Amino acid sequence: MRVLHIVYIGVVALFTRSSALDNGIALTPPMGWLHWERFMCNIDCDADPQNCVREELFMEMADVMVKEGWKDAGYEYVCIDDCWPSHKRDAQGRLQADPKRFPSGIKKLGDYVHARGLKLGIYADVGTYTCALYPGSLGYYDIDARTFAEWGVDLLKFDGCNMPDWHQLGEGYINMSRALNQTGRSIVYSCEWPLYEWQYQQPDYEEIRKTCNQWRNYGDIYDQWTSVKDILDWTADHQKLLVPVAGPGGWNDPDMLIIGNFGLSHDQQQTQMALWAIMAAPLLMSNDLRNICPKAKELLQNKQIIGISQDPLGKQGYRTFKDDNFEMWERPLSGDRLALAVMNRQEIGGPRRFTISVGTLPSWQLCSPKCNVTQILPVYKEMGVQELVSKLVVQVNPTGTTLLTVNPIKNNPEDIL
Ligand SMILES: *[C@@H]1O[C@H](CO)[C@@H](O)[C@H](O)[C@H]1NC(C)=O
Ligand SMILES: *[C@@H]1O[C@H](CO)[C@@H](O)[C@H](O)[C@H]1NC(C)=O
Ligand SMILES: *[C@@H]1O[C@H](CO)[C@@H](O)[C@H](O)[C@H]1NC(C)=O
Repeated sequence: MRVLHIVYIGVVALFTRSSALDNGIALTPPMGWLHWERFMCNIDCDADPQNCVREELFMEMADVMVKEGWKDAGYEYVCIDDCWPSHKRDAQGRLQADPKRFPSGIKKLGDYVHARGLKLGIYADVGTYTCALYPGSLGYYDIDARTFAEWGVDLLKFDGCNMPDWHQLGEGYINMSRALNQTGRSIVYSCEWPLYEWQYQQPDYEEIRKTCNQWRNYGDIYDQWTSVKDILDWTADHQKLLVPVAGPGGWNDPDMLIIGNFGLSHDQQQTQMALWAIMAAPLLMSNDLRNICPKAKELLQNKQIIGISQDPLGKQGYRTFKDDNFEMWERPLSGDRLALAVMNRQEIGGPRRFTISVGTLPSWQLCSPKCNVTQILPVYKEMGVQELVSKLVVQVNPTGTTLLTVNPIKNNPEDIL
């Protein structure tokens, strides 16, 4: 084991949280299911009724979410992505669902989802067309916001394709935010404003936080490890900008959880789950809950990881260390606790040992005089009481992550034993 140089990145010191969109919701990162990555724009219901984007897909997901413990684990939003509308607005200029694939309409679907104690998400676009070329909302923000509110929609994913003049992106997102507010209904507002603005200039994250409940910064996730790595690298490279703006009411969105699909090994799925929790990311799964392997299900429903994700302090975590193909990330938690992830980025060989010297990590002052360390991933294990002089050795699989929580033990004789 070589000696590792700790490159500590002082994000915590810079932490000043700005004011969030004041709609009273998304105080912790939203959790649910979103159709895009797994089902995309599959509209061929004649050939592929099981997997096409139609009302049954969302009804079946809602049923499974209740029956199979997803709702109890905290997954709440059942979200429709692109390709749901008819290509034509109605006579009053309102969006309408595709009549063949959503014959009951979105309001009925909302009732169905609400009757099961879940919430409904929908999708629209700030420009003239959605990314898949369905009608966009430009010029219709008020009408569309009212329509969604009347349908009982609880979350809007507002995409950024096809904006004729990129200078109007921000204005469009702000106008839609106001339109949603004026409906009087609390609707989680999921934006892609920074993602589309980055190609022209650095987005104004203070403005974004005032406007949106969550926002995509970087390209779409794919069902592959390369994509997960890219997102993590980009986020770490921009953490000085991104971490301070996250907090209750507003979150950086690194895109969907792809756990339970085809592209990630189990270790890579553990990495995504651990790091999305560390990043205080919305946990929107895109997979087929009707048919998911038990290990992926157990991981997605892991109470300790969800506890980290949903920590009420709402601070986003950050990378503190990167060397020798290891990365260490940490997230400050409520009660002076800490979540710590060690990722092995070496894609050759077997599990590698990583030594954490407790005293050399600034955030581990919470181990003075003593702390209690629990390993959450790859398997649950109590690592016992530690102090500043302790050295902890963890074993990390290639592309996998070891996730720990660290709890301070106050200087109370009863606790120390
Ligand atoms: C609308 O905005 C006002 C002022 O920020 C806020 O108090 C109110 O709760 C918002 N209403 C909704 C439905 O978001
Ligand atoms: C936003 O609203 C303002 C004020 O109503 C309007 O002047 C502007 O054109 C709108 N921008 C967009 C992109 O809708
Ligand atoms: C350490 O944490 C574990 C898991 O939360 C708990 O069961 C155990 O009692 C704790 N030990 C001490 C000494 O606090």
